[in-house]
Amino acid sequence: MGATGDLAHRKLIPALYNLGIDHLLPHGFSIVGFARQDHEHEDFRQDLRDAVNTYSRHGRTNAEVWNSFAEGLFFLQADFGDAKCYKQLADLLDRIDHERGTQGNCIYYLATPPTVISQITHMLGEAGLVTPSATGEHWTRIVVEKPFGFDLTSAQTLNRDLLQVFHEDQIYRIDHYLGKETVQNILVFRFANGLFEPIWNRSYVDSVQITVAEDLGIDRRGGYYEGAGALRDMVQSHMLQLLTLTAMEPPVALDANAVRDEKVKVLRAVVPFSEEAFSRNIVRGQYGPGWIGGKDVPGYRSEAGVNPESSTETYVALKTYVDNWRWAGVPFYLRHGKRLPKKETEIAVSFKRAPLALFQHLDANSMTPNVLAMRIQPDEGMSLKFVAKVPGQGIEIQPVHMDFLYGSSFARQSPEAYERLLHDVMLGDSTLFTRRDEVEAEWSIITPILQYWQGQQPSAFPNYAAGTWGPEAAAKLMSCDGRSWRQV
Ligand SMILES: NC(=O)c1ccc[n+]([C@@H]2O[C@H](COP(=O)([O-])OP(=O)(O)OC[C@H]3O[C@@H](n4cnc5c(N)ncnc54)[C@H](OP(=O)(O)O)[C@@H]3O)[C@@H](O)[C@H]2O)c1
Repeated sequence: MGATGDLAHRKLIPALYNLGIDHLLPHGFSIVGFARQDHEHEDFRQDLRDAVNTYSRHGRTNAEVWNSFAEGLFFLQADFGDAKCYKQLADLLDRIDHERGTQGNCIYYLATPPTVISQITHMLGEAGLVTPSATGEHWTRIVVEKPFGFDLTSAQTLNRDLLQVFHEDQIYRIDHYLGKETVQNILVFRFANGLFEPIWNRSYVDSVQITVAEDLGIDRRGGYYEGAGALRDMVQSHMLQLLTLTAMEPPVALDANAVRDEKVKVLRAVVPFSEEAFSRNIVRGQYGPGWIGGKDVPGYRSEAGVNPESSTETYVALKTYVDNWRWAGVPFYLRHGKRLPKKETEIAVSFKRAPLALFQHLDANSMTPNVLAMRIQPDEGMSLKFVAKVPGQGIEIQPVHMDFLYGSSFARQSPEAYERLLHDVMLGDSTLFTRRDEVEAEWSIITPILQYWQGQQPSAFPNYAAGTWGPEAAAKLMSCDGRSWRQV
């Protein structure tokens, strides 16, 4: 659903083709595009080939793989609200089942505006296109893109609508961040090594910083971003997911429900913001005109599709706590912004200083705390900062880094996040997808902030220039605690 859209072209179809290259698609695998534009099967195939040529990590299509992949591509011109189109879809799926031996198993991928999710779900149910089973001989599954709702109430409504037609184990709420290798590596790093877990708690950890910095603005997505903002777009989903993976307890098993049970516990332990904390521990910002990568760039309010007096935030920084046995008292600082100086996503765990300041007579700046930084993108890897003696007479100390880089340790390209996730949906593994209670717990954290902001129009927007590290108030949020944001 939505096969003519941006997501399908840039991510989904190239990811499926890449799975074909890696021999991970089953025999007879077929795709039916279901969208409004008028296409013959053949020009739909050509259109997608152009997309794969442009966006696949393997570069231009391999003729043999493409031809076999393209034999399974079909298009149905449709309107999501028209019951007749679902009847045509049922007929086409039936024909494909017989001609290509696909045996009736079906995944509905909703690469559509979020406003039509309930409608499509209802129509699929009415048309008899949903089997009651997520596994076994004959199954149907549904994948729903983010954003999943725009606040707690709308997410609950969406869940209710989906669950009227599908069982929870048939629903895959996608957050593509969870498909990234380095995000999954957080679990491996924490739970497959004996070294770090004993110190991964309030006795040894001073604070955690999670940064998702973007140098890009809003591209052509002004219409969407105006209604979303940085808090909904990035913090509600991706950043809270990074927080849960960093803070969760070891799951009893590596299955979908055991992992998600632990993640939900973290979200439930996040301390709700008090009236005072709203103004003291949360900062929002919006970029004005500035300079990035040698180019002048416009302010947010001058971007296409944006209200010239917009109060939508393009930057958020906040401090929160996970109030449980492991993390009580350890601040988690989260920041995300558009048009910051560089693109960088990392989780940095800062450890407490050595208990005895044996070297306190030395330059205080050299005695920086140990930091373990997990870099999600770009230059995926990890870095451990500690201090070492500078060679020479006497004692001089300097911070040094021990680095692990994915790219140089494994001479192999990582699959794209969507490849991993689409493959998991086909296998019926929902570990990397968000469960109903998880998404609602995320919104329970975010919605009170949105409500507080609604009553407090920002007076000073824009409050940071494009190409800088965000508003002054964000630096103050840290300096009040005697800390500073990491220079990523
Ligand atoms: N693009 C991204 O990078 C990205 C990243 C993360 C999440 N997402 C999410 O993915 C979803 C899709 O995003 P997108 O950027 O691909 O959107 P898009 O480019 O606007 O595509 C929307 C698709 O839905 C179809 N459509 C809309 N209304 C329809 C109707 N009434 N009947 C039939 N078809 C209809 C459109 O068909 P026609 O073109 O034929 O009208 C088009 O194929 C959104 O929920 C978005 O938030 C997107």
